Amino acid sequence: MLKLLIKRGTLVDPSQDLEGVYDLLVEGNRVKKIDREIFEPEAEIIDAEGLVVAPGFVDLHVHFRDPGQTYKEDIETGSRCAVAGGYTTVVCMPNTDPPIDSPWVVEYVILKARHVNLCNVLPAGAVTKGRKGKELTDMYSLKDAGCVAFTDDGSPVMDSEIMRRALEISSQIGVPVFDHCEDDRIATGSLSSGEVATLLGYSSRPPEAEDVLNARDCILAYHTGGHVHIQHLTTALGVEIVRYFKEKGAKVTCEVNPHHLVLSEREVLRYGSLARVNPPLRSGEDLKALRSALADGTIDCVATDHAPHAEFEKDLLGVSMPGMIGLQTALPIMLSLVEEGVITLRKMVELMSTNPARIIGLDRGTLKEGAVADIVVFDPKKEWVLDEETNLSKSKNTPLWGGRLRGKVIYTIKDGRVVHKDN
Ligand code: DOR
Ligand code: ZN
Repeated sequence: MLKLLIKRGTLVDPSQDLEGVYDLLVEGNRVKKIDREIFEPEAEIIDAEGLVVAPGFVDLHVHFRDPGQTYKEDIETGSRCAVAGGYTTVVCMPNTDPPIDSPWVVEYVILKARHVNLCNVLPAGAVTKGRKGKELTDMYSLKDAGCVAFTDDGSPVMDSEIMRRALEISSQIGVPVFDHCEDDRIATGSLSSGEVATLLGYSSRPPEAEDVLNARDCILAYHTGGHVHIQHLTTALGVEIVRYFKEKGAKVTCEVNPHHLVLSEREVLRYGSLARVNPPLRSGEDLKALRSALADGTIDCVATDHAPHAEFEKDLLGVSMPGMIGLQTALPIMLSLVEEGVITLRKMVELMSTNPARIIGLDRGTLKEGAVADIVVFDPKKEWVLDEETNLSKSKNTPLWGGRLRGKVIYTIKDGRVVHKDN
């Protein structure tokens, strides 16, 4: 059996309250042992001195555009970005063409991901047929085919009765319903409702568009016992809504995207359509609230919403497709928050690995002895630039393009096998 010995790394594993310098031995596809000093003459050695060793990251929100829009990304290039960003598991959104709303599309995604064989690509199935918001999909057979969540992401589930029934089924089958909360009767424009939208004369997507659906979903989760997961939370009031319903015992979890933590709506003035994303970048006050909610546990996890688009689709601010790529930049962004003292390194790992795994009931996000060896080894200080050379996506749409980043993944190990190595 293949043996891999990761020596002298700073291990950070919140799942077993472990933080310190240890050796870690992988045997086959499992974590065999963690100790202060391990001797194993047969093992291949990774010298991790000065590096952080953590359970592989889990991203609950990526768009791999496969099938149907593979000029933006596909399961292979998306997987490459994922492992380069330290992710060993990703949940891919169903707004593909055709959408992931029937078992055969689920099977296509799973088979292609298995063929690519870099990271776990777990499909989210659509809540409604064609993501049109009118009729529930067959959630039972989608679950059997391998869906780990349901969402119409890209669009909200506007019909409250459909959402209520989806949550009832969710509580029966134990699969969470994710929601992209933006009331599409209110969210008609490109930018948040603040001074920037006003200045540029754009119609808006104000915070209340998000807050009303967030509150409705929490209420429905409370009454049905279903598990709702609020995707890309961005508002200060949204934080309070989630906190309130968690305290009431509703099964509510939520995620935040890295860009919403460090970029405010003012970035639109600098980056134009590259800063256009749904939900939109918000005010400084919202950023502040999100940051403290990370630290106090109201926000369960960080998800990238990796949303690749071609250059011609990001041409003009008013009509550009929303979204930015994010798999390779999430770690540097989150490390900048650690550097600033917003969160600890341990909290960061919790948000990027332990908690997202727990939300979808996955037995990963841990380095406990006997666990599957999905591991990230990163250098928190190494500086680099996302450019033509380092970018692994088919798309380039991010305001961070060409900027200096700090923190780089050195090894990603999945199922005990090195699937990414920094060069
Ligand atoms: O900005 C976004 N882009 N938000 C979404 O919800 C969808 C995504 C996409 O598919 O491009
Ligand atoms: Zn979304």
